[in-house]
Amino acid sequence: MKVILDGLMIHTKADLHDAFAQALQLPEWYGRNLDALHDCLTDIHEQTQIVLCNYPQLEQTLGPYAHRLQTMLRHAEQTNSFIRILFDQKQEAPTVKNNFKFIIHNNGDVSKKAPEKATQMFRMEYGRDARKFHRQIPGYEMTPLVALPNLAHLLGLGGIYVKNEAMRLHMNSFKVMGGSYAIYRLVKQLLGKENEDLSFEYMVSDECHKALGDLTFCSATDGNHGRGLAWACQKLNYPCKIYVHSETSQPRIDAIRKFGAEVTVVDGNYDDAVRQAAEDAKKNGWYVVSDTSWPGYEEIPTWIMQGYNSIMLETQEQFSAMGIVKPTHVFVQAGVGAMAASVVGFYSALFPEDPPLFIVVEPDKAPCIYESIAAGDGECHSVEGALDTIMAGLACGDPSPVAFDILKNNADIFIQVPDNVAARGMRILGCPLHGDPLVISGESGAVPLGTLFALQTDEIDPELKKVLNLNSDSTVFMINTEGNTDPIEFRRIIWDGKDPVPERYRIDK
Ligand SMILES: Cc1ncc(COP(=O)(O)O)c(C=O)c1O
Repeated sequence: MKVILDGLMIHTKADLHDAFAQALQLPEWYGRNLDALHDCLTDIHEQTQIVLCNYPQLEQTLGPYAHRLQTMLRHAEQTNSFIRILFDQKQEAPTVKNNFKFIIHNNGDVSKKAPEKATQMFRMEYGRDARKFHRQIPGYEMTPLVALPNLAHLLGLGGIYVKNEAMRLHMNSFKVMGGSYAIYRLVKQLLGKENEDLSFEYMVSDECHKALGDLTFCSATDGNHGRGLAWACQKLNYPCKIYVHSETSQPRIDAIRKFGAEVTVVDGNYDDAVRQAAEDAKKNGWYVVSDTSWPGYEEIPTWIMQGYNSIMLETQEQFSAMGIVKPTHVFVQAGVGAMAASVVGFYSALFPEDPPLFIVVEPDKAPCIYESIAAGDGECHSVEGALDTIMAGLACGDPSPVAFDILKNNADIFIQVPDNVAARGMRILGCPLHGDPLVISGESGAVPLGTLFALQTDEIDPELKKVLNLNSDSTVFMINTEGNTDPIEFRRIIWDGKDPVPERYRIDK
């Protein structure tokens, strides 16, 4: 066996012992000190060559500890003939160190993209129609587009802009924009008034209710969509049935019930809840208003994505007022991919010749879009399992096919990150640099910022760095898609430091 350790990659004693533990597959109980390492080395009974590259770097970082390591390794070599230690001073770093996995897909090259469907689906008039509807909702206000100039400076960027959907209609999330608009479109369709504008006032009127008769709306949710739909149904005075999976937290369930919806808890994960909701709706004659699509069920999920474009029209208006034509980079998080597709689709339709670079981010415990791209056959692929990420809004195992179609044809880079990246994003936004405004962000809302931070502070693959081309001319845009939607978990992360960044990826290493 030959193992290579690189001094350039080792910044702390813990890093050093992690590297040995991983390379030599040391047992879990390995004590992570030099004596314990010596004991493990003397126990080796197969030929093992340990190459320590860039040792002078290790001396610089660890000082006398590096010398003690060297002495110990020499001793182990003398006492165990199976071991050979080589101090190779020059060898380049064998691995790249970062806290995430990535795929470079369309790499910013427009000739590889196919924006035709996006251009159709996200025509400006659809977004305008959604915005016209949303503006009539009592209490509607544009959510802030927050600039973080000091963080941008720290990360060597021109600007970071966060559309803060935590402030949306006191709903703590962007989701209400999709569900409410889909109900609006459905009501128009049921009334045979597709080519007319219906006012919000008319939609809540007795006249409209009489014309429609009894209707019940239904959907599965991982929390935020269900709350948005329940809210819209309560405003319009229709019954609402929401299906959640068994891991959904009580605060999320309570927040849905608060708006009068009946909540059913389904055994299994989010995708099981989606199937159960569709089945029960069929049996009972309810209308499913789902944010995810499946073969034969595409119209309503498309309306939902078009509804989200209202957010993007606000954003562009806000950018214009700042003298910014468009962002250069868009980081967008994905669950089933509907929200990401609406953002990517919007900009691809608006700037087909010169779109921003799109980076789609998912949790590594539910990377269904990433895995579908990785498969390379253009098809949707599911991710099985508990999907037990802290990013509850992104804990989806089945991509939405209509959304995936937009993403595969237009997005550039796909990244999956561990929970600690989202947790760090929450802490950065919730405890900003002096002069930057505070943004309260939940797990799914903060992951784009956590990812941007990791990209700018981890040692990343040179090819990825080149394609990303993040520099002082970059204007980075992202959406904080939720605020503090789960107060108990929020406190665990922000106050108690749950899901800490592993030592090797910390900036103080
Ligand atoms: C807060 C939050 N952000 C992002 C998303 C991702 O949206 P989508 O499932 O459309 O990819 C969700 C979905 O529920 C969410 O709740």
